[in-house]
Amino acid sequence: MIKISPSILTADFTVLNRTLDMLEDCGADMLHIDVMDGLFVPNISIGLPVLESINKTYKTVLDVHLMIDRPHRYIEQFAAAGADIISFHYEAGSDIGETIDFIRSCGAKPALAIKPATAANVVFDYLDRLDMVLVMSVEPGFGGQSYMPVAEGKISAIRAEAERRGIDIDIEVDGGIDKTTCEYVKAAGANVLVAGSAILKSDDPKSLMEHMRRECR
Ligand code: DX5
Ligand code: ZN
Repeated sequence: MIKISPSILTADFTVLNRTLDMLEDCGADMLHIDVMDGLFVPNISIGLPVLESINKTYKTVLDVHLMIDRPHRYIEQFAAAGADIISFHYEAGSDIGETIDFIRSCGAKPALAIKPATAANVVFDYLDRLDMVLVMSVEPGFGGQSYMPVAEGKISAIRAEAERRGIDIDIEVDGGIDKTTCEYVKAAGANVLVAGSAILKSDDPKSLMEHMRRECR
């Protein structure tokens, strides 16, 4: 099943509730919350208090993407603030196995994210301990960038390895996903699509999400 996780990164935060209401009304399967620290990525976004507020009012699954250095330092706080899924980066300097276990022990679902230049096979050792792998299709840090096709080969390699071992895992793709590029990543084997600017700028976000959710033939 294809799931859509709209990113709120490019929302107008003075009226965030309007965006969140709209995304829920349009049937978003999850809400993708991008957390940046100005260190792991050259940008600073939103953090714990915003997540807490969203969690109080909205029942949708909260898909938190940590783009922060040494993420193990903040796992407990993000889980307590309402994160249902916590993605952390392979490149961010935390012990991978320990961080996966820590996320699970805090009651959230662990996901491992890789940047465009990171090889797909680095996640293979962890596939049976993860709920999801996040393949970045832009350099993390900013919304509105162009999709990088390098993601497709990596998605297919991870899907093939998971199927070979009988592991049912979500593969999420994040960055530059729109009406056109969603077809490439679905064909490659991704089943959780993050889309920020494409959905927030759309005149008809509901139809766009329905289109993105359709299985490819
Ligand atoms: C980028 C973030 C993305 C971003 C996607 O670092 O991880 O989630 O919001 O935005 P679009 O869909 O505009 O590329
Ligand atoms: Zn993201």
